Amino acid sequence: MKIVPSLTDISQLTSSWKKQGQTISLVPTMGCLHEGHLSLMRKAKDMGGKVIVSIFVNPLQFGPNEDLASYPRQFVIDCELAENEGVDAVFCPENKYMYGDSFQTAVTVSKLSQGMCGKDRPGHFDGVSTVVAKLFNLTRADSAVFGQKDFQQLAVIRQLVKDLNFPIQIIGSPIVREDDGLAMSSRNKYLHGDSRQQALCLYSSIIAARELVTESRDKILAQTVIEQTKEIIARAGAALEYAVLKDESTLLDDVVVSSDSILVLAAKIDGTVRLIDNGRLFPD
Ligand code: PAF
Repeated sequence: MKIVPSLTDISQLTSSWKKQGQTISLVPTMGCLHEGHLSLMRKAKDMGGKVIVSIFVNPLQFGPNEDLASYPRQFVIDCELAENEGVDAVFCPENKYMYGDSFQTAVTVSKLSQGMCGKDRPGHFDGVSTVVAKLFNLTRADSAVFGQKDFQQLAVIRQLVKDLNFPIQIIGSPIVREDDGLAMSSRNKYLHGDSRQQALCLYSSIIAARELVTESRDKILAQTVIEQTKEIIARAGAALEYAVLKDESTLLDDVVVSSDSILVLAAKIDGTVRLIDNGRLFPD
């Protein structure tokens, strides 16, 4: 497996692969890889060509009071994990080369970046969209795999690809959970003891919402699900940032629960650790 820190080298490597007729699948990450990321790599491997994992803690997507400095980093372990999955190259650019002194461009997906995480993290999705556009250009990937845990991020990236005509296929990959249901996240490293226990309230809210809709014969208002979610999160002692019911195909807010409804939520655990999760309310 090649470890490629240089922007020029990654472009040369991918050009040589293209000349050989290879396709390229990209798994963009910020490192601190866990089983969720590994599942993305396996999906990328299934595409049949070369696989690149990018590891770059993107400063543009962190707000001033967020955890950029303390974001967990474990580069050597990450490279071992990627190599074990048969990844062909890890692209690990340095910040000063990704964003030189004269850098001044931002990619904005205006409507989808508002609300939900966009409300609590102003500028976050501009940072994500900008880095993802750069990664697509640098790697010339034919496909890229993203986790469905980041529901809004996936929607923003799909829109970006459509609007800017990137010749790339975006693949969403299902959430991977710990045995007790906690969605895998690099930020789970911040959780210990009581806070780890408290964090289960996100998944419990999804399960409770599923029970509510499957046990009812009548139509259920989205507001009823949201009120129940608020109660569960508050009872656990966490702080709900948002809970919304979205129609998975239109991405619009649901008023009434339907077979396409997906509960999307974010909560702060122990006052500090911000976690997100989502789940369909009806079985597939
Ligand atoms: O999901 C992430 O880890 C990041 O937002 C991404 C897509 C790698 C962009 O920095």
